[in-house]
Amino acid sequence: MARKKIALIGGGQIGGILALIATQKELGDITIIDIPQVEGMIKGKALDIMQARPHDGYDVNIEGSSDYSKIEGADVVIITAGVPRKPGMTREDLLDINLKIITDVANNVKKYAPDAFVIVVSNPLDAIVYAFFKVSGFPKSRVVGMAGALDTARFRTFIAMETGLSVQDVSCAVLGGHGPTMVPLIRSATVGGVPITDLLSQEQIDAIVTRVKEAGTELVKLYGQGSAFFSPAAGIMEMAEAYLKDKKRVIPSAAFCEGEYGIDGYFIGVPCVIGEGGIEKILEVSLSDDEKALLNNTLTVVKKTVEETGL
Ligand code: APR
Repeated sequence: MARKKIALIGGGQIGGILALIATQKELGDITIIDIPQVEGMIKGKALDIMQARPHDGYDVNIEGSSDYSKIEGADVVIITAGVPRKPGMTREDLLDINLKIITDVANNVKKYAPDAFVIVVSNPLDAIVYAFFKVSGFPKSRVVGMAGALDTARFRTFIAMETGLSVQDVSCAVLGGHGPTMVPLIRSATVGGVPITDLLSQEQIDAIVTRVKEAGTELVKLYGQGSAFFSPAAGIMEMAEAYLKDKKRVIPSAAFCEGEYGIDGYFIGVPCVIGEGGIEKILEVSLSDDEKALLNNTLTVVKKTVEETGL
């Protein structure tokens, strides 16, 4: 069986960690694409990871280039090309610059990897994934935004920290847009099947929810320059692996809704089944009236940013 091929568009902070995780999981050969101005850095990262393989014997190849033709035939394309936030910036502040970049990237991906499953990461996520979808003309099953995997991992982390229990046993989901209006679902959050409402006080749960919504901003402040990169990369690879191994994982992801949750024509975070068919299905959770109102609120924010793309 031929090895799978993974193309990373953007070889910055997230791109570098993606290349390392994909190598360590032996998911396939990896091509990192970045702009010509940083070609030396990209080639260096690729060569550095090549030389990290012998210790554990990972048989995949990693190459770096600024030549898009190198992504030809990629099974998965992961897009982190763009600029990250600096302290004081919202994700929406990145729209103009990242919209230009995604347009260029979408045209190249359409040309060289027309059959790929595409995971978009650049912010503001819900609008940038929409832009990729519109410019590329790819089917909705093969275009998805990574946000829910990360936001859910953050929710799981804080529940585990607050209860002192294993993060492995925490199960929960975050829906909605990738920003402060996201909707962490409390009623269905459990630790080993025990509802968090039986384990934590309302004050503790409220504090967790607030922290989840601001978790990205907390890291932007701590780093001082740039945004989170280890945790986004882990979330992205979870999605890529689900596709490559046809795992039928259920991962909250920004998917194109056509009627689900009463949303029509927008990408927003919803529970998705990811397998060999890409986004095979969107699962509909029955929401309380309060949760519906929160989802409506986050949709209003997403719609506004999408409208600013002019697409
Ligand atoms: N084609 C390919 N790569 C590009 C392009 C382009 N047209 N324009 C910029 N890049 C590259 C940059 O040169 C840089 O190496 O994208 C990379 C982005 O890396 P970082 O600046 O380190 O950003 P990172 O932390 O990886 O985040 C990337 O993901 O979470 C979001 O908000 C974040 O939009 C940002 C993206």
